[in-house]
Amino acid sequence: MSSSQSEWDEKHSLAAKEAAETPAGILSELWPLLPAGAALDLACGRGRNALFLAERGRHVTAVDWSAAALDILERHAQAMKISVRRIQRIEEAKHSTRAGIDLLHADLETIELPADRYALILCVRYLQRSLFPQICRAMRPGGVLLFETYTRAQLDFSGGPRDPAHLLHNGELRKAFPELEVVFYRELRAEQGIASLAARKPHGERPRQYGD
Ligand SMILES: C[S@@+](CC[C@H](N)C(=O)[O-])C[C@H]1O[C@@H](n2cnc3c(N)ncnc32)[C@H](O)[C@@H]1O
Repeated sequence: MSSSQSEWDEKHSLAAKEAAETPAGILSELWPLLPAGAALDLACGRGRNALFLAERGRHVTAVDWSAAALDILERHAQAMKISVRRIQRIEEAKHSTRAGIDLLHADLETIELPADRYALILCVRYLQRSLFPQICRAMRPGGVLLFETYTRAQLDFSGGPRDPAHLLHNGELRKAFPELEVVFYRELRAEQGIASLAARKPHGERPRQYGD
């Protein structure tokens, strides 16, 4: 992303006294349709999405490189009586089925995600194209990816990233995960330029077709 780790720490620290934010629209809208099981929140920030999921009984591994963001997330979780702990390596969350949040302070540019692990992966307002193949591998068959971030249309509006490298092209997100089945897609150009995707990892091989 465009900002450095210290810039993100500063941004998050400035918001430390604010109440926990509302979750991303795509998460609250599609929540009733999401599969049960472990969730991974990539670039979780101050944790609005991880907190939403944990409050509803999910186990979430929440990853961000901003220590300030993770401190704030931890405080909100404690205030909400959500179980929260720190982990040093992503594999430590492996056997966790309890509701709650595992916080991992890590750089997503160098992370290695475990294969076939998550029923739900969230990537909201963070674009790192090099992670796309790992995201697909990390999902369990039947698992769902919720991805929502800015498009180049955001340049017509204030706020958000300005570096075109961190903005999706029109239609890019719909085609970004060819191994997954798209179940929901939209692009908005109204007060913000944003694309939203929900996509499912198929179960095993496709069913045999007549004539195979
Ligand atoms: C716009 S915030 C989005 C936070 C959250 N997903 C949400 O929707 O509220 C982007 C987040 O990406 C994190 N980030 C940026 N580059 C990162 C990297 N290389 N590794 C881990 N986190 C990163 C920042 O610290 C920041 O918390």
